[in-house]
Amino acid sequence: MSNTLEGKTVLVTGASSGIGQATALALSKAGARVAIGARRADRLKDLAQDAPGEILALDLDVTDRQSVQDAVTATVDHFGTLDALVNNAGVMLSGMILNADTTEWTRMVDTNLLGSMYTVHAALPHLLESKGAVVQISSTSGRTASAGGGVYAATKFGITAFAEALRQEVTTQGVRVIVVEPGMVSTELATHITDPAMQTMAKNYAESMRTLQADDIAAAVLYALSQPEHVAVNEILIRPTDQAR
Ligand SMILES: NC(=O)c1ccc[n+]([C@@H]2O[C@H](COP(=O)([O-])OP(=O)(O)OC[C@H]3O[C@@H](n4cnc5c(N)ncnc54)[C@H](OP(=O)(O)O)[C@@H]3O)[C@@H](O)[C@H]2O)c1
Repeated sequence: MSNTLEGKTVLVTGASSGIGQATALALSKAGARVAIGARRADRLKDLAQDAPGEILALDLDVTDRQSVQDAVTATVDHFGTLDALVNNAGVMLSGMILNADTTEWTRMVDTNLLGSMYTVHAALPHLLESKGAVVQISSTSGRTASAGGGVYAATKFGITAFAEALRQEVTTQGVRVIVVEPGMVSTELATHITDPAMQTMAKNYAESMRTLQADDIAAAVLYALSQPEHVAVNEILIRPTDQAR
């Protein structure tokens, strides 16, 4: 992948809100052809209307291996190639371990970890062909775990481990792997927390600082994807200035 995004094909998962939506829009503004995947088709339709460039909206549930394979196939069928994958879809259902609803653990592992692994699995043959790039949206929780965030952090630590193995397997074949680790970003992510105490804690934490905006992360993704071919930006950690840990 060369250092201009003009005409490049990028698949963004979880593009219906937050970081994925902002990244898809920024990529489109930079001249990329963008396939956008998520479960909320209405949101994708709105994004397709707002984006200046060519957009392919795809029904995608990353927990479903067939849906992931179908989305990658549809992208390559439509655009003829795949130059980059932004593996962004994720859920954060924070809660203490004691008495946890373990179906929420399953959802997080299925979406954040297995979902992003399925997407790499389906996209990799095409990325090897295009000498493309994979952007894995991890988190500061992929570096430091904290009470109430054990399972979410486990999925993000897992993403980092998988990305490093992937990097070693493909970098000399020209495929670049980039892990992006945002701190607190103002999005819908925390609104899905079901535990009322955790929900309040997340809200208070966000209100205690000037959070990042989704556009700040989109800019980092564009920076990494716009480097010359011999430059691999492997990791980007971005916290709000006000976030101490
Ligand atoms: N916000 C933060 O502070 C923060 C910090 C660090 C890392 N992150 C990471 O950034 C990524 C994006 O999160 P966000 O903050 O932008 O939150 P968000 O606004 O809630 O976006 C999450 C996206 O993931 C999609 N998604 C969830 N489950 C999915 C599934 N099964 N299949 C396909 N798409 C699915 C959602 O789309 P549908 O519901 O329409 O399917 C949505 O587009 C996540 O991986 C998150 O862990 C966020």
